[in-house]
Amino acid sequence: MTQQRTLRVALLGAGSVGSQVARLLLEHSDELADRSGARLELAGILVRDLEAQRDVELPAELLTTQADELIAGADIVIELMGGMEPARTHILAALQSGADVVTGNKALLATHGPELYEAADQVGATVSYEAAVAGAIPIVRPLRDSLAGDRIMRIFGIVNGSTNYILDRMDRDGLSAEEAQQIATDLGYLEADPTLDLEGFDAAQKAAILASLAFHTPVSIDDVYREGIGSVTADMIADAHRAGYVIKLLAVCERMITSSKAPDAGAVTADGDAISVRVYPALISREHPLASVHGGNNAVFVESEAAGPLMFYGAGAGGIQTASAVLGDVVSAARRHIAGGVGVGESTRANLPITPIGQVTTRYHITIEVADQPGVLATVAGILSERGVSVATVEQKAVVDAEGTARLVIGTHSAREDALQATVQALEALDVVEQVSSVLRVEGAA
Ligand code: NDP
Ligand code: HSE
Repeated sequence: MTQQRTLRVALLGAGSVGSQVARLLLEHSDELADRSGARLELAGILVRDLEAQRDVELPAELLTTQADELIAGADIVIELMGGMEPARTHILAALQSGADVVTGNKALLATHGPELYEAADQVGATVSYEAAVAGAIPIVRPLRDSLAGDRIMRIFGIVNGSTNYILDRMDRDGLSAEEAQQIATDLGYLEADPTLDLEGFDAAQKAAILASLAFHTPVSIDDVYREGIGSVTADMIADAHRAGYVIKLLAVCERMITSSKAPDAGAVTADGDAISVRVYPALISREHPLASVHGGNNAVFVESEAAGPLMFYGAGAGGIQTASAVLGDVVSAARRHIAGGVGVGESTRANLPITPIGQVTTRYHITIEVADQPGVLATVAGILSERGVSVATVEQKAVVDAEGTARLVIGTHSAREDALQATVQALEALDVVEQVSSVLRVEGAA
């Protein structure tokens, strides 16, 4: 029998994910060796606090606070510390020493991704990051490899589990936003800084990574239009429910096709003209598969020219679940080490421009409180038509207060965001409009 090669693996971080990765590397070492073609020797685990209580009991002799020594001797470095620094510096050091890097650090990749990929290219190493988007769900590799021969038109999905949990409890159990958020906090679903989840930063980081892969274009967090779930009230959820919709925090990555490449002209002939990447709470028909993504789960819908619609669903977070994605990348990196050859870098050949949110078109539901008087509906309709916003549906709810206020819910056809915003401003300025109580985008065909 030939002697199996041994690859040294350095693990940076032993928190929720890192501790599970360490456990699996130690407990499944024979299986992992068979699949990798090399023994994966866990050389050490970088932590801040050597004495800290951990989810998993780890051999004390593996824990270290000495990053440089650990990284210097490694063939594969797994970064699961999170944050910008010192994670970025450690990854660059690992790449410069020729190690392959595996990371789940979406925040770092959405800001410094191109710098890390460039450093990897220079030495022929790889940066793999299946865990960075949607936890356990394989979505990075399908976009990068399985769909590399196809043309992706649109990705949209639920990539943040904690906000999905909150919106789902509001929808299914009638909880207020505060109640649902408190339960999510008690269950440990929210990040230590909850604004990362609630204000859509986490989803925007993942959207930037997905869009970069799908459209062969560097996209950073700063390119992503972002709204969180702070504006979503129990009333909005209940209204949506009655109208056959559910509100989800969606990440939307879209190839924008100009009218000269209209869909009836057949297949798109180039990469498209531009892309749009955005995160916001939106209405989804209850018939849409994304509507049945409950609790803390994630789901990503990919629409590509040849393959058609594909859906990826599962656990978007959790230590052990995310460890699965990390170890897939580790096995893949080990195989490359054994086979030799340079790693395949990120594809940025298309380098498409990013469309500002004002030029994006989608459908909307506008809810306004108006004086219930003759002519009001015509006035409101006039405001929309003057700005090129075409009305698809109008529903007038019963009078909502003693002053004779009625609630109008106007559904629009596809309209430009800047036209819609101008319409909302004009509506707010009308004497007969008490307030524009909500504006929600509608995504996904029913
Ligand atoms: P944790 O906060 O639970 O763990 C971080 C670990 O890194 C801890 O062991 C900590 O050490 C160590 N660490 C942090 N800073 C330093 C430092 N300066 N020097 C040495 N060690 C340090 O993070 P998670 O395991 O939850 O997440 C890890 C990464 O995976 C993040 O990038 C996250 O975004 C990503 N991710 C997480 C998911 C999840 O479900 N948790 C899902 C998908 C991705 P010590 O223990 O001593 O404090
Ligand atoms: N805070 C993230 C979420 C964790 O709620 O989905 C996984 O990235």
